[in-house]
Amino acid sequence: DPALHLALTMPKAELHVHIEGTLEPELAFALAQRNGISLPYADQAALAAAYNFDSLQSFLDLYYACADVLRTADDFRDLMLAYLERAAADHIIHTEIFFDPQTHTARGIPFATVLDGLEDGLKQGRARWGISGRLILCFLRHLSEEDALATLAEAEPHLARIDGFGLDSSEQGNPPSKFQHLFARCRALGKPVVAHAGEEGPPDYIIQALDLLGVKRIDHGVRASEDPALLARLAADGVALTVCPLSNLKLRVFPDMHAHTLGQLLAAGVKVTLNSDDPAYFGGYLNDNIRAVQAAFQFDAATWKQLAKNSFEASFASKAKKAGWV
Ligand code: HPA
Ligand code: ZN
Repeated sequence: DPALHLALTMPKAELHVHIEGTLEPELAFALAQRNGISLPYADQAALAAAYNFDSLQSFLDLYYACADVLRTADDFRDLMLAYLERAAADHIIHTEIFFDPQTHTARGIPFATVLDGLEDGLKQGRARWGISGRLILCFLRHLSEEDALATLAEAEPHLARIDGFGLDSSEQGNPPSKFQHLFARCRALGKPVVAHAGEEGPPDYIIQALDLLGVKRIDHGVRASEDPALLARLAADGVALTVCPLSNLKLRVFPDMHAHTLGQLLAAGVKVTLNSDDPAYFGGYLNDNIRAVQAAFQFDAATWKQLAKNSFEASFASKAKKAGWV
């Protein structure tokens, strides 16, 4: 399939990947050993066998538990390097990476330890593979807005190293409206903001993210297909969706790839991008997502070129950088 070969090998940007979600079982056990702690699983195979999710929450419970092996700046650096090596192998040349500081500061890991390690990994990754990486701080929506505001205060001395803000974790019952003050502050700091919306939550959460949080792009957004007026708005305004197909299957947003709304979103003219979300947990990195999409949809070369172009256009890289890419 020449279109698939093109899609796999062409330069791409990834805009939706959680660094904590790139923790492979092998590295999880290596870090547990290095830090003298034990995971509640006998071995890598037992851990991998637990990756049997039936909802976003069932995944999040395990994802937060595994993050406990991340203790030192070296751990965060090694995690970042492992992801960047895989990303470079998939011909990703630019990546905008989420990190969840509250998952770590709540365990007593200093904010600066997390950031220093991730930054070190980005620097080494750029030197080794020529890949450019940005960091997007994600707030956990199952916690209070006050908790998020305290995290933002911790982040403020490090703003030069943070390229944007996002919102993740348990969507249903935690609407964007809960974080209006927080996001107004983030925007006042001059940083772009994004939010997970319309993954498990209703299309109205996408509308709230746009109108109440002022987001520049929507993470997931796959339930936009349920609201024709919203689809038209996303297309007219050029709002990008960072779609994560294997994630959506693993978390049972859709029963199979044929039922995925990706085709409808593209047909409506929405600026769709493809991404891996939590590749260690969901069965693969970006090119694995591309293979799974192609098996179901058989897109032509022009569609794959458009998806790659969208990934650069929707990125937060400078205009000059984007001009060199697209
Ligand atoms: N949705 C919400 N929160 C998350 C996700 C996701 O797909 N991955 C990591 N945290
Ligand atoms: Zn996500």
